[in-house]
Parts: sequence; C-alpha cells; structure tokens
Amino acid sequence: MDKKWWQEAVVYEIYCKSFCDSNGDGIGDLPGVMGKLPMLKDLGINCIWFTPIYKSPQVDNGYDVADYYDIDPAYGTLEDFKKLLDMAHSMGIRVIMDQVLNHSSDECVWFQESRKSKDNPYRNFYIWQPPKADGSEPNNWGNRFREGNGSAWTFDELTGEYYLHQYSAKMPDLNWEYEPLRQEIYKMLRFWLDLGVDGFRLDVFTRLKKPAGLPDAVNASDPALDRNGYILDGSMCTCVEGIHEILHDIWANVFGPADCYTVGEGSGINAGNAASYISPAAQQISSVYHFNLSSRKREPFTHAQFRKVQSDWAKLHEAGCWATQYFSNHDSQRQVSHYGNDGLYRVPSAKLLAALTLTTPGTPYLYQGEEIGMVNVQFDSIEDYNCRYTLGDYAAMVAQGADPKTAIRTVGPRSRDNARTPYQWNAAENAGFTTGKPWIKVNPAYKEINLEADRESPDSIFAWYQKLIGLRKTHPAILNGGLEFCDADSPQVLAYTRSCPEETLLVIANKSDAEAEFALPEELAKRPWQPVARNLPGDFPAPEATAKPWECRIYKA
Ligand code: NOJ
Repeated sequence: MDKKWWQEAVVYEIYCKSFCDSNGDGIGDLPGVMGKLPMLKDLGINCIWFTPIYKSPQVDNGYDVADYYDIDPAYGTLEDFKKLLDMAHSMGIRVIMDQVLNHSSDECVWFQESRKSKDNPYRNFYIWQPPKADGSEPNNWGNRFREGNGSAWTFDELTGEYYLHQYSAKMPDLNWEYEPLRQEIYKMLRFWLDLGVDGFRLDVFTRLKKPAGLPDAVNASDPALDRNGYILDGSMCTCVEGIHEILHDIWANVFGPADCYTVGEGSGINAGNAASYISPAAQQISSVYHFNLSSRKREPFTHAQFRKVQSDWAKLHEAGCWATQYFSNHDSQRQVSHYGNDGLYRVPSAKLLAALTLTTPGTPYLYQGEEIGMVNVQFDSIEDYNCRYTLGDYAAMVAQGADPKTAIRTVGPRSRDNARTPYQWNAAENAGFTTGKPWIKVNPAYKEINLEADRESPDSIFAWYQKLIGLRKTHPAILNGGLEFCDADSPQVLAYTRSCPEETLLVIANKSDAEAEFALPEELAKRPWQPVARNLPGDFPAPEATAKPWECRIYKA
C-alpha cells in the first residue's frame, strides 16, 4: 500500500534556542538553523519538528505562547521563518510546527482580555472559578511545575476569581468547552497551514479536556513531591472522557480538510488506547509519540519492556495505525546517558540506540545532538538550571529539609536541561554554538564530543546515522515489515526480524556492558544471512557469534 509522506519520514527535532546562534546573543535562531540545513540534509532526515518558536516570555522556553501568529524576536521574524520554510522545502525537507493548545502564556492577548472582567468576550477562553466559601482554591489540584504554593489555581484580584493552570501560573489553561475559543484556534492553525507548514506536533493533546465539575484529586502521582496539600494526579486531566470529541472537532475543522500530518505528545497513551486516537477511522490525529519506554524520571526500560511495548505497538500497524520511535527529545535526558553507556561504550551504545530507533516499526524521531552522541550534564549550582520541573522539584526537596547538594544531585540527572544544553558543533569556545554568552551553559564535554570531531573520526556516530537512514530507503522490510523478536528473552541481547515479502532483516543488539552469547531459533539459524551493517569495526561475524558489549549487527536474508 502506498505510504503517506510522514510514514516514510525521518524527523529531526530542533530545539531552536539551543541549536545555532547566528547573531551572538547567546540564543539559537532561525538564520542559525538555515545555515545548518545542508548538514541536516547530509544526515538524511527529511522532516524538521520545531519546538515552539512563537513570541513568548520564555517561562517554559516557548511552551508559553504569547502570540500564536508571530515568531519570537530572539529567533528571528516571520519573514525568516518563511525563508527557512522555502529553503527546507526546496531541499526536500518538510517542516512541522509545535502547537500548544492546552494553555497559552498569561501575556497572550486572549488572557489579557479574559482577566479584565467577568463579561469580557474572552473571559471564557480560560477556566475561571470563584473561590470556595473560605476563600481557598476551587479544588486541590497541584500544578505540574510545583510552582508557588503548589496549587494549580491562581487568584486574580481584578475579578476575584481563580484561573486554572496545569503548569506555571504564567501558563493558564485554555477552555475547550467554549466554541469561540475553538474557532480562534482553528483560524490560527489554518494560518500556519496557509503559510505552507506540513503539519503539527500537538503539545499535551490528551489534556485538553478537564473532568466535569473539576472534582478534587485523590491519588497523588508522586506523593513525595506534592506540596501543601495540593495533589498532582496526572490522570485528572489526561485522556478524560470527552477528549475524543474535541480532537475530532479539530480534525473536522482543520486537520482533515487540510490532510496535514499531526503527531500528538501522548501522555496517557499506550498500545491499548492508541487506536481510539490515531486509527484513520477515529479521524483525530495521524500518530502519537508515547512514554511507554522513554521517560526522564523512570529507570531505563528493561529488555522485557522493550519487547512487549514494541510488539504491542507493532500490532497496531495491522489495524492501520502508525507508531513513532524515539528515545529522547527536549523533555528527556540524553539517550546515550540514560539508556546506553556514556563512558567506555559511548560510541557503540549511541549507535546501538540509533539502530533500535531506525529499524523498528514507525516514524523515527531524532533529537538534535543524538547523532553525535551528546551526553547528560551535571551542574553544581541550581542557578545554572532552567527547566521548570528541575527548579520546582529542587525547591520542594529543599523545603522538605534536603541538603541543597543532595537535592541538586537528585534533580540534575533527570533534568530536561540535560537535553537542552547547546549543540556541540566544534571544540571552539562555547562549542561553536555562539560567540556570545549562551543562555544556558554549554556541556563541558564539548571538547571531546562535537560534530567536527565526530565526523573526523573513523567511528563516527553521524556516519552510522547516515547509513541507517539510507537503509530505510533500500530495505522495504524496515518500512513495511512485521516485527518478531527472536532472542529467547535474553537478558542482554535484543534480537528481532523485520519481514516483508521481499526480504527479512535481522537485527541483533547486545544492549549490555558485557559480552553475550547468542543463538537463533533453528528455523532462523539455517537461513543464509548476509551482512548489512555493524556498529563495530573489523570483520563482520555470523549471527550467532559472541556479541561484544553494545555490539549491533544487521543482516538480510
Ligand atoms: C510538553 C512539552 O514538551 C514540555 O516541554 C512543556 O513543558 C509542557 N508540555 C508544557 O507545555
């Protein structure tokens, strides 16, 4: 069956703020990205996802949008964006924009109007509630950043009511029950489609619907971090009944008629409920990325979890759904640090993870820097951190009596800032990211780990990504094949086949720090396996040869 363009795409996520600064103000920008398009083309990707580059006070680095129709001046102008879009398109690279539809910035004109009076035409664009009889918040929900007193409600003196914010008080939640808000959002989405963007990544799309009556939360997601009796229960506003109606309405008004690609950030999504959002019959969104494997806070996934999640999601393809693959993004740790080994085996483990992303079913999402094996960072001072979760978790820990040094060592490893330090272009000052003072410190590892050094190395991670991306074009099994694990539940080796009528590919990945013995099931062992790619130098051994730590091999029969 013919594939949609986005099923054949390899997407590269750009966190513009940290990518490339062209004017020395310490902040990455659009002209900076334009200058690097040839490098992205060379890598082989064919779609860019921009995290929000709209005008924003940058409380949450752009996920707090103040003007949905304009580019933040730190990144450039709308003209720059149009130029970039043209350039990308002329190079065969599509562009999808992040859309933040759950909340805006409090500096957005809609909120500025909304707070003015109870009868302002924009009042119901947001979720306002009167105080309880004792003056307290309408319910006990906590905000996700554990900001302020911890509540998800902020009182506004002007009209004597509280407004809801699942995140920062500077990021009020939008009210999807209100038709004029919907129409305003649809107009805005059409504006970007008319400009020529190819689709959208939808921020926290499962949180648009709030539970009827806004009842108190009972179950804390992480009791240790709840504050002052305000409970953070992620499920209160995630995948709430009625969410499908909202998503279908957006689809019917915008996504469907435009036939554009949409990928949702799938909090609360798993293989069991995914089809109700992403099957073509659901008429909601095209695809989703889930958190079943990747999480900045949880322990790395086990081999058993990997097999189960991949097998379950692969089955969804039979139902006409389409998955995505990724291990990291701007909200995570660096993948080689979290799921690989960023010491002795940094290079082979970065390559092994790339192979898992690029040879399992679905659209791969790469995050800037993984193609050179960028690693986590540990700052010593809380002043050097920027991520709202990190600041909130740190403050909560210290308030509960933790010693600041312990607190920083606890929040640092799971901070989103691990992924947000500037791209490491070369070994020059500030990793070649800026000639000014970077908005967030550069990872000191840049002297050894940078694009220039990687590309000069015979062991280049970048070159391995190029190779794998290339394989997707010449091996139909990667795009169309079924997935079958064949590793007898080995605690070290993940091995699977991808089979379509034309060919079978076999991937063998020793995801461990030790050598591993490995045997194939009999029927596979006797097939004539031809070498395709290996992440270590030297002779290409047979499938059942002992696998070195983090060795990964791909064969074809
Ligand atoms: C998910 C985004 O990826 C994250 O960076 C942001 O903080 C929250 N949504 C709130 O918009």
